[in-house]
Formats: sequence, structure tokens, C-alpha cells
Amino acid sequence: MKKSVRKAVIAGNWKMNNTPAQTTALINEMKPLVADADCEVVLCVPFVDVPAAVEAAKGSNIKIGAENVHFKDNGAYTGEVSADMLLALGVEYVVIGHSERRTYFGETDQTVNLRTLKALEKGLKPIVCVGETLEQRELGYTETLLKFQTKMALTNVTADQLKNVIIAYEPVWAIGTGVTATDDQADEGNGFVRAAIAEAYGAEAAEGVTVQYGGSMNAKNADELVDKVNVDGGLIGGASLKAPDFATIVKAASK
Ligand code: PGA
Repeated sequence: MKKSVRKAVIAGNWKMNNTPAQTTALINEMKPLVADADCEVVLCVPFVDVPAAVEAAKGSNIKIGAENVHFKDNGAYTGEVSADMLLALGVEYVVIGHSERRTYFGETDQTVNLRTLKALEKGLKPIVCVGETLEQRELGYTETLLKFQTKMALTNVTADQLKNVIIAYEPVWAIGTGVTATDDQADEGNGFVRAAIAEAYGAEAAEGVTVQYGGSMNAKNADELVDKVNVDGGLIGGASLKAPDFATIVKAASK
């Protein structure tokens, strides 16, 4: 982390876990454990859990995010949720382009870009996910791919809007697998993302962007990961479902 120039953000990504009642219980357990955080603390939860999450997080330092947002304002898009709907509930952040959405739900670099633009236009802070598969890494395409995905996601995003963008570098092979990138691999990947931003917006703008690492980040490895200069926090899946583990990660990013 480089705390002098950018903010560390620890964001939980609950994926398809927890009912509203479980949401209330888990956030109530987390609140006192993360109260002293010296970083941004966010929980991205399933749509139906948002009201319970916002209510439970009231008066605390926990911010609530969603796990997706549609790129149109409204209309005939069965099953989708708009930015205005999320904002009306008190949502501040949104995960966009998670590899699970890219793999299972037809998300493309183009739709990631459209969702990012809509989130920014409406005032939601996007957490945009990029990352290479194991095959792409072994073929030597990691840098090319990360730069391409980053630039595609940010197409038509203004320099001013960039200040509200968070990018999460999540190697697909490390997500939910228990295989974490080494701290050097995470730093390198995050560095490629930052280099892509620098190519598009200049070095100074790129220095200010929060770039998280995600992929089996947990209470044991968080310290070493966030110690790296390019790792400005994390997007946490499995470990964000356990209050003590999540709190330990928040502590690591608060140092
Ligand atoms: P994981 O998930 O921490 O369970 O690997 C990370 C993510 O998918 O954002």
C-alpha cells in the first residue's frame, strides 16, 4: 500500500451467500471488530440482502456495495437491477466484471465498460475486476491481458471519474481455490493494472487509483499482500463470510 497517495479498501464479496437474517447477524458481529479500521471497509452483498445490510451497518464505518448493476436506467431487462434502485437503498459501491460473471453469465469487456460508465454516471463507486486465467498466465499473456481488460473497462471514463474507480486484480486461478498469488505476483499484477491506467491517464492519475488484490486472500496471508506497494487492499470472497477473519484482514490493511 502507498497510504500517502491512495486509500486502502477492504471489500467483502459475499457472492451467493447469506439470507437477510444471516446478513444482519454477520454485520452485527463484524461491526465492533472493524470499528477502529484505518481503511475503507465495504461489504458487497446479494441484492436481496441490501436492505438488511444497510440497516445493520447504520452508524458504523461499514459501507455497503452490490455485486452487479445494469447499464441501462430502466426498461425491459428481466432480472436486472438498476443503479437508481441500488442508490435508493443506500448502496455506495458495486462489483463489476467479476470473473464468475464473465465465466458463467456472459459478461464481456464491453458490458463491463458499460456497467462501469453507468455506475460512475450515477455516483456508485465501481470495483472493477480484471484477471488472467492460468492458461493465459502460462502462455505469458498476463501483462497484455491485464492492460487490455483495464483499458477496455475504462473506455470513455473521464479523468475526473477515474478518482472514484477501484480496480481489483483477481487472478482467476486464485479465486476460491485456496491458491493465493504470491505477494510478488500480486504486486506485479497490480503494477500492470496501474501501468495501463498510467498509459491512458498519465502517471500521476494512476498513482491515485486504488488497486486491490483478490483471490484466496485470508487472515493468514493478508499482512504480506498489503505490504506490497501496489496492493491497496483486497476483494475478499470466502474470508469475508467469517467476522474474525474479515476483521483480521481489515487490521492488516489498517497498519
Ligand atoms: P476468494 O474470492 O477470496 O474466495 O478467493 C475472491 C473474489 O472472488 O472476489
